[in-house]
Amino acid sequence: MKGRTAAALLAIAMAALLLPACEKIDRNMWDNPAFKPQEEPVRLPPRDSIPTKGRERIPSMAEAASLKNPVSPTEGNLSKGKELFGIFCVPCHGDSGKGDGPVGKKYVPTPADLGPSGHGAHHPDGTLFVVISNGAGGMPSFRADLAPVERWQIVAYLRTLK
Ligand code: HEC
Repeated sequence: MKGRTAAALLAIAMAALLLPACEKIDRNMWDNPAFKPQEEPVRLPPRDSIPTKGRERIPSMAEAASLKNPVSPTEGNLSKGKELFGIFCVPCHGDSGKGDGPVGKKYVPTPADLGPSGHGAHHPDGTLFVVISNGAGGMPSFRADLAPVERWQIVAYLRTLK
């Protein structure tokens, strides 16, 4: 009996000794020297640096209404627009643009119907361009993912939706 108690005590003592070590191992991945998202210090550009590529200026909604699509609806532009629409818009707006994409179904309100029977088609080209650039309500902004010409190609393609 005595021997057993001693063995048990020894086991407990060993465990107590090892536990902090275990914790150390467990937390290794977490407590690594890398910065976590949003953690200070935020990496800012060096002092006095200036942007070399400029920054896109998105027109206001009022300006947008009178803008003309600089991209003409050639076969090339429409097929590019269709391809980009398939990648960036179909998940929410659906193939038909009616707002019934697999992700879109989870949205309240559901994504706009972009076809001629929906309110998407009532917008002038420029308004569509600004909506794609800035996003709207639950819809994300695409200015970082799509170059201006690509957004205009999508607008040209939207006009062909039935
Ligand atoms: C993550 C889902 C999602 C994606 C991806 C998405 N949209 Fe939307 N879109 C929405 C939702 C939701 C609305 C309705 C916004 C509201 O009224 O709050 C909407 C609305 C719109 C409208 C109407 C805005 C208005 O105010 O009348 C247009 C036009 C539009 N989307 C075009 C596009 C195009 C083009 C793409 C692809 C470049 C796209 N959307 C990608 C979710 C999405």
